[in-house]
Amino acid sequence: MSEPSQPITTPQAAFGLATPYRDVTCGELGAADAGREIRIAGWVHRRRDYGGLIFIDLRDRYGLTQIVINEAEAPEAAAVAGKVRSEFVLEIAGKVARRLPGTENAKLGTGEIEVQARSVTILNEAQTPPFYINEPDAPVEESVRLRYRYLDIRRQPMLERLLLRSELVKAVRDAHHRAGFVEVETPILMKSTPEGARDFIVPSRLQPGSVYALPQSPQQLKQLLMVAGLDRYFQIARCFRDEDLRGDRQPEFTQLDLEMSFVDEQRVMDFVEAMIIDVSRAVVPDRPIRQLPFPRIDYHEAMERFGSDKPDLRFGMELVDLVPALGEGSTGFRVFDETLAQDDASGVTRGRVKAIAAPSMADASRSQIDELVAFARRYGAKGLAHVAVAADGTGHSPIAKFLGDDRIAAIVKAAAAAPGDLILIVADSDQETVAQVLGHLRQELGLRLGLADPKVLAYCWVSHFPMYKWDSDGQRWDATHNPFSGVVPEDEKLLVTVSGDPYKPSRQDPAGKARAMQYDIVLNGWELGGGSVRIHKRELLERSFALQGYSLDKMRALFGGILEAFDYGAPPHGGIAMGIDRWAALFAYQTNIREVMAFPKTQSGTDLMLEAPAPPEPAQYSELGLRFVGTETPDGDRAVAGQEVGK
Ligand code: AMO
Ligand code: AMP
Repeated sequence: MSEPSQPITTPQAAFGLATPYRDVTCGELGAADAGREIRIAGWVHRRRDYGGLIFIDLRDRYGLTQIVINEAEAPEAAAVAGKVRSEFVLEIAGKVARRLPGTENAKLGTGEIEVQARSVTILNEAQTPPFYINEPDAPVEESVRLRYRYLDIRRQPMLERLLLRSELVKAVRDAHHRAGFVEVETPILMKSTPEGARDFIVPSRLQPGSVYALPQSPQQLKQLLMVAGLDRYFQIARCFRDEDLRGDRQPEFTQLDLEMSFVDEQRVMDFVEAMIIDVSRAVVPDRPIRQLPFPRIDYHEAMERFGSDKPDLRFGMELVDLVPALGEGSTGFRVFDETLAQDDASGVTRGRVKAIAAPSMADASRSQIDELVAFARRYGAKGLAHVAVAADGTGHSPIAKFLGDDRIAAIVKAAAAAPGDLILIVADSDQETVAQVLGHLRQELGLRLGLADPKVLAYCWVSHFPMYKWDSDGQRWDATHNPFSGVVPEDEKLLVTVSGDPYKPSRQDPAGKARAMQYDIVLNGWELGGGSVRIHKRELLERSFALQGYSLDKMRALFGGILEAFDYGAPPHGGIAMGIDRWAALFAYQTNIREVMAFPKTQSGTDLMLEAPAPPEPAQYSELGLRFVGTETPDGDRAVAGQEVGK
């Protein structure tokens, strides 16, 4: 037995918010504190000088407190207060007093009191900020906000979003610890883990000519932790992907990454779903969850019904197949007839005619329709036909002259359209184009028409993605999601090649039909996370990698570590990773994840504040044995060191 431990000597006060500069924060004083002598510190939010009487709203993370400096009672304090400007950092000593009746501010937590200053100390001065900190709604160009992010974070909206994100991460950690997960940090200086993007690489000084890759995800390491027997792992993991940025993508982002042993798909989804519900209720208790348990939709069904593998389930407006309504034989409309006449190699008609019914758009103007047609074309549509449903339920359309009234009536019926609806129709010989176009139209119109309640959280699972997609350039079967995913057990027999040589895949291989044990979690039309049950047998993993176009040598070079580990007893395992940035953005009603990141990068991957990336120091070139020889820009020019390559 060891000696009884020493009593903890850290004073309780060390965990409080009082410091050598303050007894209280700017957010805590109330009527009950009247009469107290206190010290308080913070930034000058606003200053009003009434000659003889100066009011300062002092601000910190916790709130605002009104300070009054009366020249007659505290002439020295008034002299100092006369010099202060917005955003100066002050320490104030004084007495808490109730505000005069009628001057209370009910909107402010501290609105019943003010602090009558005895002394004012300037801890630091500040230049006039480039934008108003105290006008949270004033529009400021984003580049200016990013250039002065530390000032942007002083503003209420950014501050609130960072606090929300912190709550989210805390709730995530709590839920995992409750379920017996172990938090493990995996390295950032690593080897390439393919997740479909380019790697960021870091040259090694000790091994000249070699590089580390920053992880696109901790995928291989978390699987190795399962081989190591940790059973349940999670991490709030930083990931790096060199890919084109969008509103929901940054080159550097954060995943909640987790992995579990001795599980099947159902078990992982059950845990993740319960965890998501706990976290949502803890962080945004006022946001209703649309459906419990979360709907579980097959990939093919999601594409059929919503034209998307990340459907927004806050509203309906599902895609309907018009082919049965159009009947046998010629429809009378060339576009539809030609579409439906196109068969693929195996004689199956792939051409589709599908529609959505947009409520209350029947009287859309010519130019509104043109705009929708242009929108559809951007996603590959060759055209967009429409039928407007009148108050009496009859359909009216420019293509009625081809189709005839009966077919138009059948279309209205098939689309289950109500009076006032506008039916939008896409015909294409490629069913993916039909899904893509109508899926985007559905999402866009759902938001535009206010069908999606912003408060509602509509989570759903989408599962059973096809494991592979044929890549005709590379002559290989690319993993549609995760190269380590397993296929549903009854499809394992499909992981063979018709050539008989596992390293010679071809378009005719049955692998194209294999369904992955892969599930995505979707929230309000965003892919929030994705995971799978993995292959845990070396032989099967090698076969899957061979289909994905890896030669034996390349496989050993890239994945030798994990393949070898699988020889030492890998348990069945599976997991998921969720985008923390996306989750926080959706919780904070944002459409761009930059809004929930303290220091995000711009579209071109730049940090405007610290000016990264930047050319290395000359000494770093020689230490690392590097020389910049230029790279070719898309226009065929040579890029110069430190200059951005144009798009
Ligand atoms: P995946 O590549 O689907 O899976 O990523 C999981 C989740 O991470 C988020 N995400 C991003 N967020 C912001 N910016 C990005 N550039 C970005 N890329 C991805 C998304 C996405 O759903 N190792 C697998 C997970 C697994 O199988 O366990 C993986 O990384 O929210
Ligand atoms: P057209 O005969 O090409 O002038 O087209 C007549 C109408 O059919 C127009 O409203 C077009 O937008 C529409 N249209 C054309 N091609 C398609 C298509 N592939 N899918 C749906 N509508 C189409």
